[in-house]
Amino acid sequence: MNKDLLQADTAPRNEQDSDFSKIIDAGISRRRFMQGGATAMGLFLAANPLGKAIAATHADSKLLGFSKIPTSTADTFVVPEGYSAKPLISWGDPILQGAPAFDESGMQPALAQAGQFGDNTDGMSIFPLSDDRALLAVNNEYTNYKLLFKHQGKALSHDDVKKAQAAHGVSIFEIKRTADGWEYLADSKYNRRITANTEMRLTGPAAGDELLKTSADSSGTNVLGTFNNCANGETPWGTYLTCEENFNGYFAKPGGGQDKHLKRYGIGDDSKYQWYTSDTRFDVNQEPNEPNRFGWVVEIDPMDPTSTPLKRTALGRFKHENAAVTVADNGHVVVYLGDDERGEHLYKFISKHKYNPSDKAANRNLLEEGTLYASRFNAVAGDVRGTGEWLELTFGKNGLTPENGFNNQAEVMIFAREAATVVGATTMDRPEWVAVHPKTKTVFCTLTNNKHRGKKAGQPVGGPNPRAENHYGQIVRWKEANGDNSAMHFKWDLFVVAGNPTVHKDFYAGSANINDENMFNSPDGLGFDHDGRLWIMTDGAYSNKGDFAGMGNNQVLVADPDTGEIRRFATGPISCELTGLTFSADKRTVFIGVQHPGEKVESHFPAGGNSKPRSTIMVVQRNDGGVIGA
Ligand code: FEO
Ligand code: CA
Ligand code: CA
Ligand code: CA
Repeated sequence: MNKDLLQADTAPRNEQDSDFSKIIDAGISRRRFMQGGATAMGLFLAANPLGKAIAATHADSKLLGFSKIPTSTADTFVVPEGYSAKPLISWGDPILQGAPAFDESGMQPALAQAGQFGDNTDGMSIFPLSDDRALLAVNNEYTNYKLLFKHQGKALSHDDVKKAQAAHGVSIFEIKRTADGWEYLADSKYNRRITANTEMRLTGPAAGDELLKTSADSSGTNVLGTFNNCANGETPWGTYLTCEENFNGYFAKPGGGQDKHLKRYGIGDDSKYQWYTSDTRFDVNQEPNEPNRFGWVVEIDPMDPTSTPLKRTALGRFKHENAAVTVADNGHVVVYLGDDERGEHLYKFISKHKYNPSDKAANRNLLEEGTLYASRFNAVAGDVRGTGEWLELTFGKNGLTPENGFNNQAEVMIFAREAATVVGATTMDRPEWVAVHPKTKTVFCTLTNNKHRGKKAGQPVGGPNPRAENHYGQIVRWKEANGDNSAMHFKWDLFVVAGNPTVHKDFYAGSANINDENMFNSPDGLGFDHDGRLWIMTDGAYSNKGDFAGMGNNQVLVADPDTGEIRRFATGPISCELTGLTFSADKRTVFIGVQHPGEKVESHFPAGGNSKPRSTIMVVQRNDGGVIGA
């Protein structure tokens, strides 16, 4: 750890930053959390005498116009009164010419899946073509062998591995507005499947490095495919960003003997998906550098189905959740990036060059060069707010030197997690999505949960991670100095601390804006709509028992970032996660992803009867045609 950095000035900056004072003064989290009084450590252990008696501070948000809905344990997708929801597309629906219709036998070959919508819909973005037509670019994060194959994964052939690889990646397809919603066009010239075998290129500071070369690619720049595409981002220049998350689950080093890098990134001696059994590039003994070619953010031009996806190594290699892009007032492009693992870090990238709204071609390379930073949150004793700073991940600075194992910038990017540790970044409670408020530029990040907090070395309780054995999660927000998203300092607080006020009276009851009518656990998906409503999607425990009693199935909530009020908007079917969110340009449709219905508990969503459950994108509209959420 770098001593100079530890001694850096941690005093609050920019006292005249009135916007931020205002959001802090909303005091949402603080009120309940301060009930225990006391010092930092005492605070986290103290009882909360008011418990659920503290209702949401303001229940009269002018931003939220819909009626809250109760929790649900039903096998359906529920939206508020006056809204309707219907499926747009489900796993296995054909999107390329010649692809067959979905067949739930599990017997369709790899070739069929390669022309169909991939499995387990996740992050997605809309790219308008006109008022009534648009492209959807959608991540297909992973697949469930119990549903994908008739043999449920017990007898994996070479074609089965190819089929699983084809169920992953990204699906791009055209959608068209109709009299009663939107439908997808199976024969559009824009439609495209990107899979674990699509040709793509590594670009940026790590491209061509020795650590990216393999037996099939002596250049270290040509890589096949993307997988475990979790969440997403979109750029102001019209490209789609897909983020590679748990890539480790596809690689194995049979016999063991992992080095420290493989260990830090979680690559074991066997693998969940078993691709290495028939595809040697996933066997680390045979291709030691192949894992280094995954864990990146990939930039895709959705308008050109022949374009080569570009892996942007300047954004670092870790288990990427999403990529929240904003343009700072000075024109530099800023991308906020979470690394979803217990005790990992939160990052931001600042482009070297400036965004130029009138030069699309130049913007296309803005993610090629820039500087990556990891965050450090300074805790203020006895409070759940404080200051923070961005620690530069550049070779030769902040201890990123050969003595600490880094020989060049490529290695800093490839082993970004290890670099973040060297510079002293804060370990977080699993940073999932980041979202930037469209007007105030305040940044929000879901910290989904962390059972290791307070138990594992290096994961102390405190700051933005205030609870040991955190099963509920929280959302941290910060405002950069002077409202400049390219600044090096920020102030933070907790927007909401999830909890269960019907079960707990202490800090596990949650913050003051949580009550028995809006409680949830494990916030994950996060995004703002055009008017500044904050949409929260959960990927949590759905047992509806014990700590999670009364929470029901996974859900979507909408928050007013000014008042702190949070209202439940949607509930998903059995054993699903709700993830992926995008809005039509006219604000009158929201697309919501239903991932892995029936993952652990039987579901027949969306077709009902005895049908196989299928991951599905839902189209949600108001019956009166009004603005969603208003
Ligand atoms: Fe793919 Fe962290 O969720
Ligand atoms: Ca997620
Ligand atoms: Ca999650
Ligand atoms: Ca998921």
